[in-house]
Amino acid sequence: MFETRIGVDLEEARFWLEKGELVGIPTETVYGLAANGLNPIAVSKIYTVKQRPQFNPLILHVSNVNKIAPLVSEWPSKSHLLYTHFSPGPITCLLPKSDDVPDIITAGSDRVAIRIPAHPLTNALLETIEFPLAAPSANPSGYVSPVSADHVFEGLAGKIPYILDGGICQVGLESTIIGFENDRVIVHRLGSITADQLKTICGQEIQFELSHSSPKAPGQLKSHYATKTPLVVGDIRSLCQEYEGNRLGVLSFQEDYSKMATINLVLSPMGSLSEAAAGLFSAMRRLDAAGLDIIITEKFPDTGVGMAMNDRISRAAYPRQSE
Ligand code: TXA
Ligand code: MG
Repeated sequence: MFETRIGVDLEEARFWLEKGELVGIPTETVYGLAANGLNPIAVSKIYTVKQRPQFNPLILHVSNVNKIAPLVSEWPSKSHLLYTHFSPGPITCLLPKSDDVPDIITAGSDRVAIRIPAHPLTNALLETIEFPLAAPSANPSGYVSPVSADHVFEGLAGKIPYILDGGICQVGLESTIIGFENDRVIVHRLGSITADQLKTICGQEIQFELSHSSPKAPGQLKSHYATKTPLVVGDIRSLCQEYEGNRLGVLSFQEDYSKMATINLVLSPMGSLSEAAAGLFSAMRRLDAAGLDIIITEKFPDTGVGMAMNDRISRAAYPRQSE
């Protein structure tokens, strides 16, 4: 047990990481639960603290492309290009791993996921340490990812010594995960970088493998990002009628449904998808904490980051499908 502290002290964060302990770190996407990625004992604590299945591999975080080189055995042809254009930023590439990467990071796979996050505090931390940081989202496995230091505290207080407080995450959704097979560029998890952006940079069609049943990125398992309160997705008006008599939480994109709901959170009255994405997980958490019977939400416009938002809410939706 630890008395979990929240602060902005990079020295303290580094102290715990060098000792083989876990630290909550801010990124532009969501908060990560970080350990020394080259220390298998430290990494094993991530699995214990998150109650994460051992078969689910972890992303390594570094501060620049030069620090990727020792971790990979080769560079797929488009990978350098993608890092150059989108990093630091919300993109993760799956690359052939070198022998330096412990098997516990990749869950036995020969590919390692690597990302260069874009958050000044975490990047400063990564610059001062000698090792990459293994970091999944800093939530108990299966729950909604944290986008503030307080969210990390709510889920992991007592289990980790320190949370580096970098404010609210600007993007609010986990990174886009890209794999490479022969000459194909494949999206394994949708994020804020759109397929069109990827296509423009790579100069080729992008493919999607977001399979639910045999995931290449096991975070694609269906019952992920889930609130404890049942969440349904559909036409808000009809769902409010269907569930009349219950305490209803409505999570809407643009429109106001406060007359129909016990609580209505509107993500972006102006209709901005990036504003809505940045607020999505906080809103899900707020509604989940409000003692409601059901959370009703709607499909977002299926373009740009709206696709990633739809992916997350469909995985959070009830009835849960365990696979
Ligand atoms: O934005 C993000 O990516 C955040 C921040 C903290 O960087 N991290 C994050 O980590 O979302 P996590 O563990 O919650 O999700 C990472 C996903 C998982 O679905 C995992 O299965 C997949 O990446 N993954 C990691 N390593 C992999 C590998 N070697 N092969 C295939 N999938 C991998
Ligand atoms: Mg996660």
